[in-house]
Amino acid sequence: MTEAILLVGGQGTRLRPLTSHMPKPLLPVAGVPFLTHQLARAAAAGVTRIVFATSYLAELFEAEFGDGGQLGLELEYVTEKVPLGTGGAIRNAAERLRSAPDEPVLVLNGDILSGLDIAALRDGHRASGADVTLHLKRVDDPRAFGLVPTDADGRVTAFLEKPQTPEEITTDQINAGCYVFTRAVLDRIPAGRVVSVERETFPELLASGAHVRGVVNDCYWLDLGTPAAFVQGSADLVRGKVASPALPGPVGEALVLPGAHVHPSAVLSGGTVVGPGAVIGEGTVVEGSVLLAGARIDARASLHRSVIGRHARIGGGSVLDAVVVGDGARIDEGNELPPGLRIACGAHLPAHGVRTSASAAPCTIAHSGAPHASTPH
Ligand code: GTP
Repeated sequence: MTEAILLVGGQGTRLRPLTSHMPKPLLPVAGVPFLTHQLARAAAAGVTRIVFATSYLAELFEAEFGDGGQLGLELEYVTEKVPLGTGGAIRNAAERLRSAPDEPVLVLNGDILSGLDIAALRDGHRASGADVTLHLKRVDDPRAFGLVPTDADGRVTAFLEKPQTPEEITTDQINAGCYVFTRAVLDRIPAGRVVSVERETFPELLASGAHVRGVVNDCYWLDLGTPAAFVQGSADLVRGKVASPALPGPVGEALVLPGAHVHPSAVLSGGTVVGPGAVIGEGTVVEGSVLLAGARIDARASLHRSVIGRHARIGGGSVLDAVVVGDGARIDEGNELPPGLRIACGAHLPAHGVRTSASAAPCTIAHSGAPHASTPH
C-alpha cells in the first residue's frame, strides 16, 4: 500500500470558535498542525502518496504542507466546491489515485489521533482478501456512536445506527475512522453526489455480500472533534501517552515552543502546550491546556483544560476551567469562567464582568454582560 486518501473537508462545528479561521486538522496539537502527526505515522507505515479531500478552508492545507517533500511524501489536493460527505469525498479523491484495482488504499479521517499499527492493518487486509477493512474501537459508552458488530472470524455483520435504548447496545465496537479499501471498491461509490461512507457505502457493501472485515484492538485512539478531546489529545502527546514521529520536543509535563516566555514562578503541568510567542505571567498555574501562538496569560491567572486562541489575552487572577477562548479575544482581570464556556474570536469580557457560582449555567453568563460569549452546543 503506497497511497492514502485523507478526509479533511469537514467544518469542525463542534470545535468552534477554534475552527472559525482554521480547519480542525490544521489546529496545532502538541506544537504542530494536527495532521502532521497523522502524515508522519502514515509515512512510517510505507505510504508515499496522499490525496487530501478538502472543502472547508481548502486553500490552507496546501499552504501548510505544499507538495509534502518535507515529510517525505507526495501530496495532492482535491477540493469539493460543495461538500460531498465522507463517501462522496472518498470517491472524488479516488479519481487521482494511481493504484491498480487490486491494490489496498488507506483512507483516514483527518481528526483521529491513534496509535494504530497501520502496516499491520494493511497486511491483514491483503492476507484476508477483504474488500474493505475497518479499524474498530471498543468504547465504554457507545451511545453516541454507530455500532459495528463482528463475528468470530472478524467479519462485520451489521452497521447499526446510534442505539436509542439499552437493548440496542449489542456491541461496544465503533468505527474508528481508518479503513483499508481495495482500490476497485472505491471506484464503485457513486460519483458527483453526497454520500456517507458510514451510513450508505458500508451498509450497501455488506448487503451486496462484500467481505467487510473489522479489526478491533486496544491501541490508543481519540476523536479530536470536541474541545475536551482536543485538549486531551494534545496533552496525551506531550506526556507521551501516545507516540508520534512528529513531536517537536521531548515528552514531559509541558511543551514550551520557541519564542514563548514563561515566568519562572509559573507552574505548567498536565501536558500543557505554550505556543510560539505566548507569554505566561508571574504565579500563573496552567494545567492540561493549549495556548496558541501569541496568547498572553497575566499574573496569577489559573487555567485548567482550556484552549486559548491566537493572540488572545487572559487578565490577571482570572480562573478558567474547560473554557475555549477564540483568537484575539480579551478576558479582563478577575473573571471566573465555568466549564463549557466558549468565547468568540475578538470578544471582550470586561474586568469582573462575569462572576459565577459553580452551579451557574453557561447561558446565564452569555446573557449577562458577555455579549460575544457563546454557549456550548
Ligand atoms: P463536526 O462538524 O464538528 O462534526 O466535525 P467534522 O466537520 O470534521 O465532521 P466529522 O467529524 O463527522 O467528519 C469526519 C471526517 O470526515 C473529518 O476528518 C472531516 O474533515 C471529514 N469530512 C466530513 N464531511 C466531509 C465532506 O463533506 N468532505 C470532505 N472532503 N471531508 C469531510
